[in-house]
Amino acid sequence: MKFFIDTANLDQIKEAQDLGVLDGVTTNPSLMAKEGITGKENIIAHYKKICDIVTGDVSAEVISTDFDGIVKEGEELAKLHDQIIVKVPMIKEGVKAIKYFSDKGIKTNCTLVFSVGQALLAAKAGATYVSPFIGRLDDISTDGLNLIAEIRMVYDNYGFDTQILAASVRHTMHVIDCAKIGADVMTGPLSSIEGLLKHPLTDIGLAKFLADYKKGN
Ligand code: E4P
Repeated sequence: MKFFIDTANLDQIKEAQDLGVLDGVTTNPSLMAKEGITGKENIIAHYKKICDIVTGDVSAEVISTDFDGIVKEGEELAKLHDQIIVKVPMIKEGVKAIKYFSDKGIKTNCTLVFSVGQALLAAKAGATYVSPFIGRLDDISTDGLNLIAEIRMVYDNYGFDTQILAASVRHTMHVIDCAKIGADVMTGPLSSIEGLLKHPLTDIGLAKFLADYKKGN
């Protein structure tokens, strides 16, 4: 299972990279704006900084919604760095563009996916990753994890290569449940990864080991 961090915050990206378990980064226009990164040139420069920190895939989202615009933007983004994955929204023009990129060997992440049908379409178009937003489904009383399970079943039925990237992960239990279901990737905040470390018996056990060591010295 790959771990991506879902942020444009360079300190958090560095921290996750230093932990040694990071496989990539996902960003979106909202995450960029949260870090105060606005304007095309600044956003492009920020993607380059992220690529310099991590060794894995970095999703960079297009903001065009028409085929020609998505293709132009996506080709520019893909040329920035070989780690860039062009993030394309699940709309009709986006599906066409994903097919175009796939034929050209440009990797894509189909974003804003909320149904099995959309995920099926993304796979048919040749998306490298499909991003079902589980947290946003949970927010509206719909089972986000169930969507991951259904997409897993459909993709396995037909041997689709598209990787299921569980997005909008909000906490550590989402990560664990996605791993049980068989999501290929999860993207979440640093806290969702660091939460995996935590167990009170580890802390209690370590404190006792260290105290006992001191007794003998
Ligand atoms: C996916 O790539 C998105 O950036 C992200 O996971 C959205 O998460 P949110 O629902 O917490 O905004």
